[in-house]
Amino acid sequence: MAFITFGFGLVYDTCPMSARDWDAALQRMLGRIDATGSQITNGFPHYGDPATGRWTTSPAGDWTGGFWNGLCWLAAHATGKDPHREWASAWTERLRPRATSDTVFRGFLFYYGALLGAVLLGDPRAREIALEGAAGWARSYNARAGAFPLGAEAEEASDVGHGEANIDTVQGAALLVWAAREAGEPTWRQMAISHTRRHIEFCIRSDGSVCQSASFDPGTGAMLRRYTHKGIRDDSTWARAQAWAIVGYTLMHRWTGERDFLDVAVRTADWWLAHVPPDRVAFWDFDDPEIPNTLRDTSATAIVAASLLKLAALIGDMRRRLAYQAAAEATVAALVERHLDPRGILGDGCYNKRIGLATRSELIWGSYYLFEALCVLAGRLEPARV
Ligand code: GLY
Repeated sequence: MAFITFGFGLVYDTCPMSARDWDAALQRMLGRIDATGSQITNGFPHYGDPATGRWTTSPAGDWTGGFWNGLCWLAAHATGKDPHREWASAWTERLRPRATSDTVFRGFLFYYGALLGAVLLGDPRAREIALEGAAGWARSYNARAGAFPLGAEAEEASDVGHGEANIDTVQGAALLVWAAREAGEPTWRQMAISHTRRHIEFCIRSDGSVCQSASFDPGTGAMLRRYTHKGIRDDSTWARAQAWAIVGYTLMHRWTGERDFLDVAVRTADWWLAHVPPDRVAFWDFDDPEIPNTLRDTSATAIVAASLLKLAALIGDMRRRLAYQAAAEATVAALVERHLDPRGILGDGCYNKRIGLATRSELIWGSYYLFEALCVLAGRLEPARV
């Protein structure tokens, strides 16, 4: 194994995987997409049992339904084959009623679930549904706070409603930036930018680590507290909070060009790289005192791998570009070699350790981001396209 040292204090091993290895892993995941597409009928795949390969589904898509559609849109883009496109279209249609549900996660649902079809395949129906999702979500903006609250129907948060905020809502703001241009609604872009900027104050700590959640006064917008729904403690760093920040600020920089979003993406990515275990796969919470005898979270790790590939493509500084590319490749290699089984199931995702839910599981969003990263590495997707 070879090592490269970079001036800003990070050391990376170079990745032994070849283009052929990336493509082989991608084919494995395509096998799982095909098996899933023919297995599910009654709902969107949510989390799976790696022993049986069986999915627990959500009839209306919960917060994760868009990731299944996103896998199908990406597969259709990468292979040009049916039935991926047919599945993508059918499941995107099934998301349509969610445009009016009072949840901030319409960002996730309609970005991955519909925008991908519009952007990657020029699908007119997907475009229409993505715009419906954006228009519905835009109506819940709180102008006094300059942010979108979680909403009364936000899934799985212990505190939901109109004075709560989460870092995993920043990525979805990119839906509104795209929709602002498509629909000729420039205020949507301003809302998205303000939402993203408010979450720097809500969730990003001065050392570059991330806190999942915050409460704010819906009347004045003033922040009241920081806390976590799913991490071990309010002051700990839950791996997915860190990961959602990295992808959120990276994508918001990609869609807006705002420089401060790139700065946050870099700070949070550097924090991850300085704290992730040498074998690259994060534990579910960086501050669990049981480390190393605790759970991993491959889904957080996959989110970061895909984000590092985007950062490498977006950043001007050549040393960082090389460092992020090398780190992304080493991270994807670690996931593929140790956690992706022969059926294309990415195991060891930890959904919610606090309530013991799906703690060693296949998680639909983890599979989405690993598949996205493999599409990039196999040369089938431009790194920062979506
Ligand atoms: N709600 C996002 C997550 O659990 O990661």
